[in-house]
Amino acid sequence: MKPISGKQIVLGVCGGIAAYKSVELLRLFQKAGADVKVVMTENAQQFVGSMTFEAISGHPVFREMYGGNPDAQMRHIAWAEAADAVVIAPATANIIGKLANGIADDALTTLMLAVTAPKIICPSMNTHMYENRAVQRNLDVLEGDGYVIVDPGEGELACGSVGAGRLPEPEYIFDRVAGVFSPKDFKGKRVLVTAGPTREFIDPVRFVSNPSSGKMGYAVAKAAADRGADVTLVSGPTGLETPFGVRRVDVVSAAEMAEAVLARMNDADIIIKVAAVADYTPMEKANYKIKKTDGGISVSMERTVDILVELGRRKTHQILVGFAAETQDLKKNALEKLKRKNLDMIAGNLVNDSSSGFNSDTNKLNFFYKDGSMEELPEMDKEAAAHVMLDRITSRIIRR
Ligand code: PMT
Repeated sequence: MKPISGKQIVLGVCGGIAAYKSVELLRLFQKAGADVKVVMTENAQQFVGSMTFEAISGHPVFREMYGGNPDAQMRHIAWAEAADAVVIAPATANIIGKLANGIADDALTTLMLAVTAPKIICPSMNTHMYENRAVQRNLDVLEGDGYVIVDPGEGELACGSVGAGRLPEPEYIFDRVAGVFSPKDFKGKRVLVTAGPTREFIDPVRFVSNPSSGKMGYAVAKAAADRGADVTLVSGPTGLETPFGVRRVDVVSAAEMAEAVLARMNDADIIIKVAAVADYTPMEKANYKIKKTDGGISVSMERTVDILVELGRRKTHQILVGFAAETQDLKKNALEKLKRKNLDMIAGNLVNDSSSGFNSDTNKLNFFYKDGSMEELPEMDKEAAAHVMLDRITSRIIRR
Protein backbone atom coordinates (compact mmCIF):
# COMPACT_ATOMS: atom_id res chain seq x y z
CA MET A 1 0.00 0.00 0.00
CA LYS A 2 2.84 2.42 0.82
CA PRO A 3 4.51 3.13 -2.52
CA ILE A 4 7.95 3.39 -0.87
CA SER A 5 7.86 0.05 0.93
CA GLY A 6 10.54 -2.38 -0.34
CA LYS A 7 12.21 0.23 -2.55
CA GLN A 8 15.97 0.78 -2.83
CA ILE A 9 16.68 4.48 -2.45
CA VAL A 10 20.02 6.21 -2.82
CA LEU A 11 20.18 9.45 -0.83
CA GLY A 12 22.76 11.98 -2.01
CA VAL A 13 23.84 14.58 0.54
CA CYS A 14 25.73 17.75 -0.43
CA GLY A 15 27.46 20.42 1.63
CA GLY A 16 24.80 22.76 2.93
CA ILE A 17 23.50 23.84 6.30
CA ALA A 18 20.33 21.81 5.61
CA ALA A 19 22.32 18.55 5.46
CA TYR A 20 21.09 17.72 8.96
CA LYS A 21 17.54 17.40 7.57
CA SER A 22 18.73 14.50 5.39
CA VAL A 23 19.11 12.39 8.52
CA GLU A 24 15.40 12.79 9.22
CA LEU A 25 14.58 12.11 5.57
CA LEU A 26 16.57 8.87 5.76
CA ARG A 27 14.57 7.85 8.82
CA LEU A 28 11.26 8.58 7.07
CA PHE A 29 12.23 6.42 4.09
CA GLN A 30 13.27 3.61 6.41
CA LYS A 31 10.09 3.88 8.47
CA ALA A 32 8.12 3.46 5.25
CA GLY A 33 10.02 0.23 4.50
CA ALA A 34 12.73 1.41 2.08
CA ASP A 35 16.36 0.33 2.09
CA VAL A 36 18.48 3.50 1.90
CA LYS A 37 22.12 3.92 0.93
CA VAL A 38 23.85 7.26 1.37
CA VAL A 39 26.37 9.02 -0.88
CA MET A 40 28.04 12.14 0.54
CA THR A 41 30.11 14.80 -1.17
CA GLU A 42 33.32 15.87 0.53
CA ASN A 43 31.75 19.16 1.60
CA ALA A 44 28.69 17.43 3.07
CA GLN A 45 30.98 15.77 5.58
CA GLN A 46 31.84 19.23 6.96
CA PHE A 47 28.20 19.54 8.06
CA VAL A 48 27.20 16.01 9.18
CA GLY A 49 29.56 13.11 9.92
CA SER A 50 29.29 10.08 7.68
CA MET A 51 29.13 7.89 10.83
CA THR A 52 25.62 9.22 11.50
CA PHE A 53 24.34 8.08 8.11
CA GLU A 54 26.29 4.81 8.34
CA ALA A 55 24.77 3.95 11.72
CA ILE A 56 21.22 4.78 10.68
CA SER A 57 21.26 3.34 7.15
CA GLY A 58 23.15 0.17 8.13
CA HIS A 59 25.31 0.54 5.00
CA PRO A 60 28.74 2.05 4.41
CA VAL A 61 28.52 5.62 3.19
CA PHE A 62 29.92 6.12 -0.32
CA ARG A 63 32.27 9.08 0.01
CA GLU A 64 35.14 8.68 -2.41
CA MET A 65 35.75 6.87 -5.66
CA TYR A 66 39.23 5.68 -4.82
CA GLY A 67 41.08 4.88 -1.65
CA GLY A 68 39.89 2.96 1.35
CA ASN A 69 37.65 0.02 0.54
CA PRO A 70 38.53 -1.65 -2.82
CA ASP A 71 34.90 -2.53 -3.65
CA ALA A 72 34.05 1.17 -3.45
CA GLN A 73 35.53 1.45 -6.94
CA MET A 74 32.51 -0.26 -8.56
CA ARG A 75 29.99 0.95 -6.03
CA HIS A 76 28.87 3.81 -8.28
CA ILE A 77 27.65 1.29 -10.85
CA ALA A 78 26.25 -1.31 -8.42
CA TRP A 79 24.31 1.24 -6.37
CA ALA A 80 23.09 3.13 -9.44
CA GLU A 81 21.79 -0.07 -11.05
CA ALA A 82 20.04 -1.29 -7.90
CA ALA A 83 18.34 2.05 -7.14
CA ASP A 84 14.60 2.50 -7.59
CA ALA A 85 15.16 6.24 -7.11
CA VAL A 86 17.94 8.64 -6.22
CA VAL A 87 17.17 11.70 -4.11
CA ILE A 88 19.69 14.51 -3.64
CA ALA A 89 18.83 16.61 -0.57
CA PRO A 90 20.20 19.17 -0.10
CA ALA A 91 21.46 19.82 -3.62
CA THR A 92 23.93 22.72 -3.87
CA ALA A 93 24.51 25.06 -6.83
CA ASN A 94 27.75 23.15 -7.39
CA ILE A 95 26.15 19.70 -7.85
CA ILE A 96 23.33 21.18 -9.94
CA GLY A 97 25.93 22.74 -12.26
CA LYS A 98 27.93 19.54 -12.50
CA LEU A 99 24.93 17.31 -13.20
CA ALA A 100 23.56 19.69 -15.82
CA ASN A 101 26.89 19.43 -17.64
CA GLY A 102 27.59 15.72 -17.22
CA ILE A 103 30.63 16.27 -15.01
CA ALA A 104 31.68 13.24 -12.95
CA ASP A 105 34.48 14.16 -10.56
CA ASP A 106 33.42 12.56 -7.26
CA ALA A 107 31.38 9.64 -5.91
CA LEU A 108 27.95 11.31 -6.18
CA THR A 109 28.32 12.90 -9.63
CA THR A 110 29.85 9.70 -11.05
CA LEU A 111 27.05 7.55 -9.64
CA MET A 112 24.42 9.95 -11.02
CA LEU A 113 25.62 9.43 -14.58
CA ALA A 114 24.93 5.70 -14.22
CA VAL A 115 21.40 6.07 -12.75
CA THR A 116 18.43 5.16 -14.96
CA ALA A 117 15.80 5.25 -12.16
CA PRO A 118 13.88 8.46 -11.27
CA LYS A 119 16.15 11.26 -10.01
CA ILE A 120 14.77 13.76 -7.54
CA ILE A 121 16.75 16.86 -6.69
CA CYS A 122 16.07 19.29 -3.84
CA PRO A 123 17.96 22.58 -4.31
CA SER A 124 18.89 24.48 -1.15
CA MET A 125 21.05 27.60 -1.03
CA ASN A 126 21.08 31.36 -0.49
CA THR A 127 18.27 33.18 -2.35
CA HIS A 128 20.59 35.17 -4.66
CA MET A 129 22.50 32.00 -5.52
CA TYR A 130 19.22 30.17 -6.21
CA GLU A 131 17.92 33.02 -8.40
CA ASN A 132 21.22 33.32 -10.27
CA ARG A 133 20.67 32.83 -14.01
CA ALA A 134 23.32 30.12 -14.21
CA VAL A 135 21.67 28.06 -11.46
CA GLN A 136 18.20 28.53 -12.97
CA ARG A 137 19.56 27.61 -16.40
CA ASN A 138 21.12 24.45 -14.98
CA LEU A 139 17.87 23.52 -13.22
CA ASP A 140 16.00 23.96 -16.52
CA VAL A 141 18.50 21.60 -18.15
CA LEU A 142 18.00 19.02 -15.41
CA GLU A 143 14.23 19.29 -15.68
CA GLY A 144 14.52 18.78 -19.44
CA ASP A 145 16.68 15.72 -18.73
CA GLY A 146 13.84 14.21 -16.67
CA TYR A 147 14.90 15.13 -13.15
CA VAL A 148 12.09 15.85 -10.68
CA ILE A 149 12.92 19.20 -9.07
CA VAL A 150 11.49 19.78 -5.59
CA ASP A 151 11.37 23.59 -5.38
CA PRO A 152 12.86 25.10 -2.24
CA GLY A 153 10.62 26.79 0.31
CA GLU A 154 10.65 30.50 1.14
CA GLY A 155 11.52 32.05 4.47
CA GLU A 156 14.43 33.16 6.58
CA LEU A 157 17.58 31.30 5.55
CA ALA A 158 20.55 30.32 7.70
CA CYS A 159 22.62 33.07 6.01
CA GLY A 160 20.14 35.68 7.29
CA SER A 161 18.54 36.55 3.94
CA VAL A 162 14.84 36.05 3.34
CA GLY A 163 13.47 34.41 0.20
CA ALA A 164 13.49 31.16 -1.75
CA GLY A 165 16.23 28.64 -1.02
CA ARG A 166 15.17 26.73 2.07
CA LEU A 167 15.21 22.94 1.90
CA PRO A 168 11.58 21.82 2.34
CA GLU A 169 10.76 19.79 5.44
CA PRO A 170 11.70 16.09 5.20
CA GLU A 171 8.00 15.07 5.30
CA TYR A 172 7.33 17.15 2.18
CA ILE A 173 10.31 15.67 0.30
CA PHE A 174 9.20 12.20 1.39
CA ASP A 175 5.72 12.84 -0.03
CA ARG A 176 7.14 14.04 -3.35
CA VAL A 177 9.29 10.90 -3.63
CA ALA A 178 6.28 8.71 -2.74
CA GLY A 179 4.38 10.51 -5.51
CA VAL A 180 7.04 9.47 -8.02
CA PHE A 181 6.43 5.80 -7.11
CA SER A 182 2.61 5.99 -7.24
CA PRO A 183 0.91 4.26 -10.18
CA LYS A 184 -0.38 6.80 -12.73
CA ASP A 185 -3.72 5.06 -13.21
CA PHE A 186 -5.70 8.33 -12.90
CA LYS A 187 -3.81 10.10 -15.70
CA GLY A 188 -6.29 11.90 -17.95
CA LYS A 189 -8.98 11.91 -15.24
CA ARG A 190 -10.33 15.18 -13.82
CA VAL A 191 -11.10 14.78 -10.14
CA LEU A 192 -13.02 17.31 -8.04
CA VAL A 193 -12.62 16.86 -4.27
CA THR A 194 -14.20 18.83 -1.43
CA ALA A 195 -12.66 18.98 2.03
CA GLY A 196 -12.86 20.64 5.41
CA PRO A 197 -15.73 22.27 7.26
CA THR A 198 -17.90 25.20 6.27
CA ARG A 199 -18.55 28.20 8.51
CA GLU A 200 -21.98 29.73 8.80
CA PHE A 201 -21.63 33.18 10.30
CA ILE A 202 -24.13 34.59 12.79
CA ASP A 203 -22.34 37.94 12.98
CA PRO A 204 -18.81 39.01 11.91
CA VAL A 205 -17.18 37.24 14.87
CA ARG A 206 -19.34 34.14 15.50
CA PHE A 207 -20.08 31.16 13.35
CA VAL A 208 -21.56 27.65 13.42
CA SER A 209 -19.20 24.94 12.15
CA ASN A 210 -17.93 21.40 12.88
CA PRO A 211 -14.57 19.78 13.80
CA SER A 212 -13.49 18.74 10.28
CA SER A 213 -9.76 19.37 9.87
CA GLY A 214 -9.68 18.69 6.13
CA LYS A 215 -7.17 15.83 6.59
CA MET A 216 -9.33 13.18 4.88
CA GLY A 217 -10.25 15.36 1.89
CA TYR A 218 -6.69 16.61 1.41
CA ALA A 219 -5.45 13.01 1.55
CA VAL A 220 -7.90 12.08 -1.23
CA ALA A 221 -6.78 15.08 -3.31
CA LYS A 222 -3.11 14.24 -2.79
CA ALA A 223 -3.55 10.55 -3.62
CA ALA A 224 -5.43 11.41 -6.83
CA ALA A 225 -2.77 13.95 -7.87
CA ASP A 226 0.04 11.49 -7.11
CA ARG A 227 -1.74 8.99 -9.35
CA GLY A 228 -1.74 11.39 -12.26
CA ALA A 229 -5.20 13.00 -12.01
CA ASP A 230 -5.90 16.66 -12.71
CA VAL A 231 -7.25 17.60 -9.27
CA THR A 232 -9.31 20.56 -8.10
CA LEU A 233 -9.83 20.81 -4.35
CA VAL A 234 -12.68 22.97 -3.08
CA SER A 235 -11.74 23.56 0.51
CA GLY A 236 -13.42 25.05 3.53
CA PRO A 237 -11.16 26.78 6.11
CA THR A 238 -8.31 24.47 7.23
CA GLY A 239 -4.73 24.95 8.36
CA LEU A 240 -3.40 22.47 5.79
CA GLU A 241 -0.88 22.99 2.97
CA THR A 242 -2.19 22.45 -0.54
CA PRO A 243 -0.87 19.08 -1.79
CA PHE A 244 1.64 19.36 -4.64
CA GLY A 245 0.03 19.55 -8.05
CA VAL A 246 -3.47 20.26 -6.70
CA ARG A 247 -5.50 23.33 -7.74
CA ARG A 248 -7.20 24.71 -4.63
CA VAL A 249 -10.31 26.88 -4.44
CA ASP A 250 -11.00 28.34 -0.99
CA VAL A 251 -14.55 28.80 0.25
CA VAL A 252 -16.02 29.57 3.66
CA SER A 253 -19.77 28.90 3.74
CA ALA A 254 -21.95 26.06 2.46
CA ALA A 255 -23.44 28.46 -0.11
CA GLU A 256 -19.96 29.34 -1.40
CA MET A 257 -19.03 25.65 -1.55
CA ALA A 258 -22.23 24.87 -3.48
CA GLU A 259 -21.46 27.62 -5.99
CA ALA A 260 -17.84 26.53 -6.44
CA VAL A 261 -18.68 22.83 -6.86
CA LEU A 262 -21.72 23.17 -9.10
CA ALA A 263 -19.84 25.59 -11.38
CA ARG A 264 -17.09 22.98 -11.86
CA MET A 265 -19.09 19.76 -12.03
CA ASN A 266 -19.23 19.59 -15.82
CA ASP A 267 -15.43 19.68 -16.01
CA ALA A 268 -15.05 16.72 -13.65
CA ASP A 269 -15.00 12.99 -14.37
CA ILE A 270 -15.02 12.00 -10.70
CA ILE A 271 -16.41 14.04 -7.78
CA ILE A 272 -15.52 13.00 -4.23
CA LYS A 273 -17.36 14.93 -1.54
CA VAL A 274 -15.43 14.61 1.69
CA ALA A 275 -16.32 18.06 3.08
CA ALA A 276 -18.41 18.33 6.20
CA VAL A 277 -20.91 20.84 4.86
CA ALA A 278 -23.19 22.60 7.32
CA ASP A 279 -26.79 21.45 7.00
CA TYR A 280 -28.13 24.66 8.51
CA THR A 281 -27.19 28.33 8.25
CA PRO A 282 -28.55 31.30 10.24
CA MET A 283 -31.53 32.88 8.52
CA GLU A 284 -30.17 36.31 9.30
CA LYS A 285 -26.54 37.36 9.54
CA ALA A 286 -25.90 40.54 11.53
CA ASN A 287 -23.31 42.76 9.92
CA TYR A 288 -22.21 44.04 13.33
CA LYS A 289 -21.07 42.15 16.44
CA ILE A 290 -24.20 41.20 18.38
CA LYS A 291 -23.94 42.70 21.87
CA LYS A 292 -24.20 40.18 24.68
CA THR A 293 -26.93 40.63 27.26
CA ASP A 294 -27.72 38.79 30.49
CA GLY A 295 -30.39 36.76 28.72
CA GLY A 296 -30.04 33.95 26.21
CA ILE A 297 -30.08 34.20 22.47
CA SER A 298 -31.86 32.19 19.86
CA VAL A 299 -30.77 31.92 16.27
CA SER A 300 -33.19 30.75 13.61
CA MET A 301 -31.54 28.48 11.09
CA GLU A 302 -32.55 27.37 7.62
CA ARG A 303 -31.41 24.46 5.46
CA THR A 304 -28.40 24.87 3.21
CA VAL A 305 -28.33 23.44 -0.30
CA ASP A 306 -27.46 19.75 -0.15
CA ILE A 307 -24.68 19.91 -2.74
CA LEU A 308 -24.47 16.17 -3.17
CA VAL A 309 -28.21 15.82 -3.78
CA GLU A 310 -27.91 18.55 -6.39
CA LEU A 311 -24.92 16.84 -8.02
CA GLY A 312 -26.80 13.53 -8.03
CA ARG A 313 -29.76 15.19 -9.69
CA ARG A 314 -27.70 16.96 -12.37
CA LYS A 315 -25.04 14.32 -13.04
CA THR A 316 -24.43 13.25 -16.63
CA HIS A 317 -21.15 11.35 -16.99
CA GLN A 318 -19.60 11.94 -13.54
CA ILE A 319 -18.75 9.25 -10.99
CA LEU A 320 -20.15 10.53 -7.72
CA VAL A 321 -18.65 9.47 -4.39
CA GLY A 322 -19.96 10.71 -1.04
CA PHE A 323 -18.99 10.33 2.59
CA ALA A 324 -21.33 9.65 5.49
CA ALA A 325 -20.35 10.88 8.94
CA GLU A 326 -22.39 8.90 11.46
CA THR A 327 -22.52 8.28 15.19
CA GLN A 328 -24.81 5.23 14.90
CA ASP A 329 -26.53 2.93 12.38
CA LEU A 330 -23.67 3.43 9.94
CA LYS A 331 -24.81 0.89 7.37
CA LYS A 332 -28.47 1.92 7.35
CA ASN A 333 -27.72 5.65 7.14
CA ALA A 334 -24.94 5.30 4.56
CA LEU A 335 -27.11 3.13 2.27
CA GLU A 336 -29.96 5.60 2.58
CA LYS A 337 -27.64 8.48 1.53
CA LEU A 338 -26.15 6.43 -1.32
CA LYS A 339 -29.62 5.91 -2.79
CA ARG A 340 -31.18 9.29 -2.03
CA LYS A 341 -28.18 11.25 -3.37
CA ASN A 342 -27.81 9.04 -6.50
CA LEU A 343 -24.19 8.08 -5.72
CA ASP A 344 -21.93 5.41 -7.18
CA MET A 345 -20.22 4.79 -3.87
CA ILE A 346 -20.26 6.14 -0.32
CA ALA A 347 -17.61 5.92 2.40
CA GLY A 348 -19.13 5.73 5.85
CA ASN A 349 -17.19 6.54 8.99
CA LEU A 350 -18.10 6.68 12.65
CA VAL A 351 -17.21 10.10 14.00
CA ASN A 352 -17.59 9.32 17.69
CA ASP A 353 -14.38 7.26 17.77
CA SER A 354 -10.98 8.93 18.26
CA SER A 355 -9.29 6.78 15.58
CA SER A 356 -11.77 7.65 12.83
CA GLY A 357 -13.69 10.59 11.48
CA PHE A 358 -13.00 14.18 12.49
CA ASN A 359 -9.45 15.44 12.99
CA SER A 360 -7.78 12.06 13.54
CA ASP A 361 -4.78 10.99 11.46
CA THR A 362 -6.39 7.60 10.80
CA ASN A 363 -9.79 6.47 9.60
CA LYS A 364 -11.89 3.32 9.53
CA LEU A 365 -13.90 3.52 6.33
CA ASN A 366 -16.78 1.32 5.24
CA PHE A 367 -17.46 1.40 1.51
CA PHE A 368 -20.98 0.87 0.23
CA TYR A 369 -21.64 0.37 -3.46
CA LYS A 370 -24.70 0.83 -5.69
CA ASP A 371 -25.19 -2.93 -6.05
CA GLY A 372 -25.74 -3.22 -2.28
CA SER A 373 -22.33 -4.75 -1.51
CA MET A 374 -20.07 -3.36 1.16
CA GLU A 375 -16.49 -3.56 2.41
CA GLU A 376 -15.08 -2.75 5.82
CA LEU A 377 -11.51 -1.37 5.92
CA PRO A 378 -9.33 -1.68 9.01
CA GLU A 379 -7.94 1.42 10.72
CA MET A 380 -5.24 3.03 8.54
CA ASP A 381 -3.80 6.47 7.99
CA LYS A 382 -5.99 8.74 5.92
CA GLU A 383 -3.67 8.74 2.91
CA ALA A 384 -3.65 4.93 2.79
CA ALA A 385 -7.46 4.95 3.08
CA ALA A 386 -7.61 7.48 0.23
CA HIS A 387 -5.51 5.19 -1.98
CA VAL A 388 -7.77 2.21 -1.24
CA MET A 389 -10.77 4.37 -2.13
CA LEU A 390 -9.16 5.25 -5.49
CA ASP A 391 -8.30 1.57 -6.06
CA ARG A 392 -11.97 0.71 -5.58
CA ILE A 393 -13.18 3.54 -7.82
CA THR A 394 -11.00 2.00 -10.53
CA SER A 395 -11.89 -1.65 -9.96
CA ARG A 396 -15.53 -1.41 -8.85
CA ILE A 397 -16.82 1.55 -10.86
CA ILE A 398 -14.61 2.56 -13.82
CA ARG A 399 -13.86 -0.99 -15.04
CA ARG A 400 -17.47 -2.17 -14.79
O1 PMT B 1 -11.73 16.53 7.78
P1 PMT B 1 -11.34 15.43 8.74
O2 PMT B 1 -11.04 15.98 10.12
O3 PMT B 1 -10.25 14.56 8.20
O4 PMT B 1 -12.62 14.49 8.96
C1 PMT B 1 -13.07 13.67 7.93
C2 PMT B 1 -14.61 13.65 7.83
C3 PMT B 1 -15.19 13.06 9.11
C4 PMT B 1 -15.15 15.07 7.65
C5 PMT B 1 -14.96 12.78 6.57
O5 PMT B 1 -14.41 11.50 6.73
C6 PMT B 1 -16.48 12.68 6.40
O6 PMT B 1 -17.16 11.85 6.96
N1 PMT B 1 -17.04 13.60 5.56
C7 PMT B 1 -18.48 13.75 5.36
C8 PMT B 1 -19.04 14.68 6.40
C9 PMT B 1 -20.55 14.91 6.26
O7 PMT B 1 -20.95 16.03 6.09
O8 PMT B 1 -21.27 13.84 6.27
P2 PMT B 1 -22.90 13.82 6.10
O9 PMT B 1 -23.27 12.44 6.39
O10 PMT B 1 -23.51 14.92 6.90
O11 PMT B 1 -23.11 14.18 4.58
C10 PMT B 1 -23.19 13.17 3.57
C11 PMT B 1 -22.58 13.67 2.28
O12 PMT B 1 -23.35 14.78 1.79
C12 PMT B 1 -21.15 14.13 2.39
O13 PMT B 1 -20.45 13.66 1.25
C13 PMT B 1 -21.26 15.64 2.38
O14 PMT B 1 -20.12 16.26 1.76
C14 PMT B 1 -22.50 15.88 1.54
N2 PMT B 1 -23.27 17.10 1.89
C15 PMT B 1 -23.82 17.26 3.12
C16 PMT B 1 -24.55 18.41 3.41
C17 PMT B 1 -24.69 19.40 2.40
N3 PMT B 1 -25.35 20.52 2.65
N4 PMT B 1 -24.14 19.21 1.20
C18 PMT B 1 -23.43 18.08 0.92
O15 PMT B 1 -22.93 17.91 -0.20
